[in-house]
Amino acid sequence: MIVLGIESSCDETASAIVKDGRQICSNIISSQIDIHKKYGGVVPEVASRKHIEMISFVVEEALKEAKIDISDVDLVAATRGPGLIGSLLVGLSYAKALAFANDIDFVGVNHMEGHIAANYLDSDLKPPFLSLVVSGGHTYLIHVKDYTSYDVIGRTRDDAAGEAYDKIARTLGLGYPGGPKIDKLAKLGHANIELPRVMLKEDHYDFSFSGLKTAVLNYINSQQMKGEEIVAEDLARSFQDAVLDVLVGKTMRLARELDIKTIAVSGGVSANDGLRNRFADLERKEGIKTYFPSKILSTDNAAMIAAAGFNQYKSQGPSDFSIKAIANLGL
Ligand code: KG4
Ligand code: ZN
Repeated sequence: MIVLGIESSCDETASAIVKDGRQICSNIISSQIDIHKKYGGVVPEVASRKHIEMISFVVEEALKEAKIDISDVDLVAATRGPGLIGSLLVGLSYAKALAFANDIDFVGVNHMEGHIAANYLDSDLKPPFLSLVVSGGHTYLIHVKDYTSYDVIGRTRDDAAGEAYDKIARTLGLGYPGGPKIDKLAKLGHANIELPRVMLKEDHYDFSFSGLKTAVLNYINSQQMKGEEIVAEDLARSFQDAVLDVLVGKTMRLARELDIKTIAVSGGVSANDGLRNRFADLERKEGIKTYFPSKILSTDNAAMIAAAGFNQYKSQGPSDFSIKAIANLGL
């Protein structure tokens, strides 16, 4: 089954062709990062306009690179939420029109289910497993029981991990997006600044990163007021270690409690080398198997939307053309 995926929830206009929910035939991503970095973050109005400019082009490229015609496509899958409403509307409306005009079935996909499905692409991962999804707007710990059946066990109560990365990077003048910049600096620094591990010891699986973010911003302010130097590498390493202690600590505690030996990590922050190294160590020491998508599939892309759309279609059939985009769509 050939699925054409479309993703436009934030600042990437993307389209992909995926076979049988697993095999990537093409994966086209047009990033708007260069436009938004001037402003230190995504400007919603600019993002939707840019999606409108790019959407036809990326869909055509996806078909061309996969060497197929629209008549070969069996299903069109597009993100319907969560995300920026103006951005979502572009991809979702385009997908509906494309499917309707060509008499193809259509499904509206939850972007976070897309991130979970990223680990199915070009891999042998099968449920059940524990999924840790860490993106710019969300942090989730999910027990995936089957392709479309899962329990959400932990979620962020305030800021997501990626949001904290971006905010701290902006304050340090490192630019947008902050994650890759902090990840790079952290490799050169020492964890010599004391920062909180929020909710690590509490007996639930929710996350909170706003306290850590505030602690880092307070540290920056107090150093500046005292006229003392801020060693960006050390601050990046101390912050990253605090984030990773909580993410890895909670995930491993849940894996032991549920006696699950397979962990799949995804979402933009899963591109982080520090996080990948931590799980690689645990894989060697604890006999667990960990999955990470390739870095291009960690951040937003349409191949993961096609993979999630395939699974959804198999269990629930097509979506109605009347479904709407939902900015705060939950899991
Ligand atoms: O999943 P994603 O592409 O978009 C959302 O659905 O939000 O995630 C984007 C987030 C940004 O906050 C970005 O700073 C973060 O992922 N990110 C990283 C890294 N690469 C991207 N965070 C930490 N380390 C990285 N290497
Ligand atoms: Zn995302």
